[in-house]
Parts: sequence; structure tokens; C-alpha cells
Amino acid sequence: MSSNEVLISGKHVSKIFGYGKNKTTAVSDVSFDFHKGEIISIVGESGSGKTTLAKILMGLLKETSGDVAYKGQPRQLRSHKDRKNYWKDIQAIFQDPFSSFNLFHKVEKLLLDCIKLQGLELTKEEQERKMKEACSFVNLKFEELYNKYPFELSGGQMQRLMIARIFMLHPRVLIADEPTSMVDACSRSTILDMLLKLRDENGMTIIFITHDVGLAYYVSDTLYIMEKGKIVESGGAEEIILRPQHRYTKQLIADVPKIHEAWNLEA
Ligand SMILES: Nc1ncnc2c1ncn2[C@@H]1O[C@H](COP(=O)(O)OP(=O)(O)OP(=O)(O)O)[C@@H](O)[C@H]1O
Ligand SMILES: [Mg+2]
Repeated sequence: MSSNEVLISGKHVSKIFGYGKNKTTAVSDVSFDFHKGEIISIVGESGSGKTTLAKILMGLLKETSGDVAYKGQPRQLRSHKDRKNYWKDIQAIFQDPFSSFNLFHKVEKLLLDCIKLQGLELTKEEQERKMKEACSFVNLKFEELYNKYPFELSGGQMQRLMIARIFMLHPRVLIADEPTSMVDACSRSTILDMLLKLRDENGMTIIFITHDVGLAYYVSDTLYIMEKGKIVESGGAEEIILRPQHRYTKQLIADVPKIHEAWNLEA
């Protein structure tokens, strides 16, 4: 499904927090090429630098060194206008859904803001139709939720609402940082299926971040394995799972011995 067109690339990207004794190298000299329509998983245990890398990709954190390019050009995020344009194309959902929403806005307003962000001039009926369509994409009922605040929703409903917003904004790139952390296994596979549908229907590039190599295998074309800030192995998902080369990758896979059974996949 992915094309050969490189959408985002990084060369020798590093991020160091703090100074002297308190120095942490969260991301250490990583290079990558993410293609249009590709689903990439970044896999690693807690503290390996996944969220830091996601924030660099989003332009929420500045890399300490290295270069990030978008559509073949060095990424420019200096002015407000640069950032606004970039965020039209690149959106993220983070581990904690509360961090993504304005808690003082009801669901209807949160969805209306997506229409506004796109600069669409729509009638009230058209707006409502768009919001209903987005909700039904994620199996939520707009009529039941439009008048509620985020804190009145369950964790799973909130995560679906985040995906409904992505459906409305249809960015070129979605960074999904542990988007299934607050839901049970059943809702988890529904959310993953929604992400796959976004890619299939809109050609979205999805960067999926997880500590779970089994989930990563289930959704991805390509895996990047991170250990202590470094990418220790990358390549086709199947190739890596069937023939891991690096010690750390082997260990991650050994931790989910039933990976093939769990996802009904053939070895
Ligand atoms: N703002 C910050 N200031 C200082 N250190 C930070 C900051 N953000 C992250 N770190 C450190 O950088 C390292 C990587 O953190 P990061 O959040 O990227 O890990 P992660 O792979 O997303 O982990 P998890 O799976 O637990 O979410 C950790 O050692 C963390 O303590
Ligand atoms: Mg994280």
C-alpha cells in the first residue's frame, strides 16, 4: 500500500535533555525514511525515546542535532505560519487522551473546531452531517455524545473521539503514540482496524508507537526497533519478526512467544 515517495526523513537526529550530570540522551543519532501510505511502528521498552522522537517529528520538540526533512525539503518551523501549515499535514494522538483535548469544550465544539481548522465554510446541516459521519467511522453516536465534556467519556470513547477528529482533519501523516493504552483487548483491535482503514481509504502515513512488538507486527509494514535512544534494527515487519538480527529485537520477540498464535498468523 505504501509508495516509494519519502514523506518524512531524518538524518542523525539526536535529542539531549539537561546538562552535565543530569544529561539524558533520549534520542541518539537516529536516521529514518517514512514513505507515503506506509504504516511504520516504532517499538521499544519504556524510556527508549519513542515519545521524544514522536514530539520531534511533530515539531513540538527541537532536535539537538541532525536534520528532519519533509517532502524532500529541510523542515522549516520558524514562523507561526510554517507551524500551522505543517500541522495541517501532520497530526498526533498521544498516550493520554486528556492531553489532546480542551477539557472545557464539549464534544460538539471539539469536532466543530476540526471543521474550522480546515477553513471550510459549511451550513449547520453540513457541519452536523460531517460530525455524524466522523462519529460513525469510530462507532460512536454523535447524538449521545455531542453535549458531553471529555471527562464524561470513558477512556475508550475518548480514544475513539481522537480518531474521529483525525478522520475529519485527514492529515497526510498521523503519529499515534500508544493509542490503545486505555482500552481492553477487544477495543484495541477495533482501534487498530480504524487506523488501518484510515490508511486504506485516505492513503495516510501512520507512525505507530508502541512497546508491544506483537501489536506492531499486526499493523505495520515497517518496524523500527529502539533501544536506549538508538534505532538498533529496522526493516519489513515480517522480515524482522521472522528473522530478527539484533539481540534486543530477539529479546522483545521472545517476550511474546505466542505472537503468531495471538494474531492467527502463519509462521
Ligand atoms: N522533558 C524531558 N526532560 C528530561 N528528560 C526527559 C524529558 N522527556 C523525556 N525525558 C527522558 O528521555 C528518555 C526517553 O523518554 P521517552 O518519553 O521518549 O520514552 P518512551 O520510549 O516514550 O517511554 P514510554 O514507553 O514509557 O512512554 C527517558 O529517560 C526520559 O526520562
Ligand atoms: Mg512514551
